[in-house]
Amino acid sequence: MGILIQHGTVVNADSTVQVDVLIEGEKIAAVGADLPADGHTLVDATGLLVMPGGIDVHTHLDMPFGGTTSADDYLTGTRAAAIGGTTAVIDFALQSRGHTLAEALATWDAKAVGNACVDYSLHMAITDLGPNFETLDEMQAMLDRGVSTFKLFMAYPNVLMIDDGLMFRVFQRAAKLNALCLIHAENGSAIDVVVAQTLAAGHTAPVWHALSRSTRAEAEATHRAIALADMAGATVYIVHLSNEDSLRELKHAQERGVRALAETCTQYLVLSLEEQMPDESFEAAKYVFTPPLREKKNQARLWEALADGALCVVSTDHCPFRFGDQKSLGKDDFTKIPNGGPGIENRMQLMWHFGVNAGLISPERFVALTAAEPARVFGMDSKGAIAVGKDADILLWDPKADYTISSATQAMATDYSMFEGWQVKGNVARVFSRGELIVDAGRFIGEPGRGKFLKRRANAGELF
Ligand code: URP
Ligand code: ZN
Ligand code: ZN
Repeated sequence: MGILIQHGTVVNADSTVQVDVLIEGEKIAAVGADLPADGHTLVDATGLLVMPGGIDVHTHLDMPFGGTTSADDYLTGTRAAAIGGTTAVIDFALQSRGHTLAEALATWDAKAVGNACVDYSLHMAITDLGPNFETLDEMQAMLDRGVSTFKLFMAYPNVLMIDDGLMFRVFQRAAKLNALCLIHAENGSAIDVVVAQTLAAGHTAPVWHALSRSTRAEAEATHRAIALADMAGATVYIVHLSNEDSLRELKHAQERGVRALAETCTQYLVLSLEEQMPDESFEAAKYVFTPPLREKKNQARLWEALADGALCVVSTDHCPFRFGDQKSLGKDDFTKIPNGGPGIENRMQLMWHFGVNAGLISPERFVALTAAEPARVFGMDSKGAIAVGKDADILLWDPKADYTISSATQAMATDYSMFEGWQVKGNVARVFSRGELIVDAGRFIGEPGRGKFLKRRANAGELF
């Protein structure tokens, strides 16, 4: 017998209808009005919205970075994701210089197996092509393993940053393989000059991290990455686009028919330089991530771009570090503050409250940005919609629920929340993942390790 969700309102990216949803095993077996009860377990969704589970395509779980390791591992991170209504994540495996992509995949696989609470997949970050460009040949092997997207960093010199030649070679190979390339777009070399000058002038407080990484440095790299991808015939996806200058570069390319996509992240939509980093206090270290917080005036442009389609996905770039013993590494020098912030648990609440409730996006667009487009862009054919044959990753959402965000009650492993004390309307009521009820009354009730690795197919050629 199955599970029949009755009396709810099903919201997909293209429709809102009052229909029942039947789950059989791991899949959605039927969607329709007044489906027969037939001995199924009945779930009353009166007053609730029935939506596809969220997909967060940009997370950094258990990642060594900035002299420490991100505070959420696969267990705590994906459990927090589930509690927040996200039923699949795509995390980043990082190639270590001098090592293969296969080694990176094995390392990240070991982190996830036995821990993941929701389904997960991996992007592969390329940092080294090898003396004879061996890494380019390994890209096909990654596709065979279901890792169909490659990430390149134009920032973090001497750590993750690659040069234009390497980036161009990866674009050329990706174009042949039909694979999507993800870009962290900031001019790392220019930023490093500004950072050195900033420190030499005696500026060490966290706010100077933000002030030394200008929107122009991000816009220049955005332009360059898109131009090089276009030259190579590749499709490119700019991660964590944070501001109006970069958006202008993206739109300009899109208007000319260039194959460029981009996401923004929740933090750029609701937090700002003026509000969160008003002075030289160390509290601002809680908001040190890259790209940094921008002036508030950028937020409206980002929301417009989410509504008009220039931006197609909202992710979190969840890369959490504790304030007490991790962010504090940079107490006397902002360059030593581990870059990243916690957000995997709050993405759906914030997008609903500040997007839908504020009238900036429709409920359907909310589904598109948080689930349907992530599934489409990243080749996750079994996810992203309430439809027959899809995985039964289903979010029962209470649009009337009031919730106060706090580190005291969150599932994420940080000792702070970037949204401490914020009151939002709209929250998760229940979450099903592949047909299993995994979140009820705010608690994760599944077994850690139940999350499966999701093989994704290379689909860059189908995205435009
Ligand atoms: O500050 C951030 N964003 N940390 C994670 C790594 C990255 O650049 O995405
Ligand atoms: Zn990045
Ligand atoms: Zn990131």
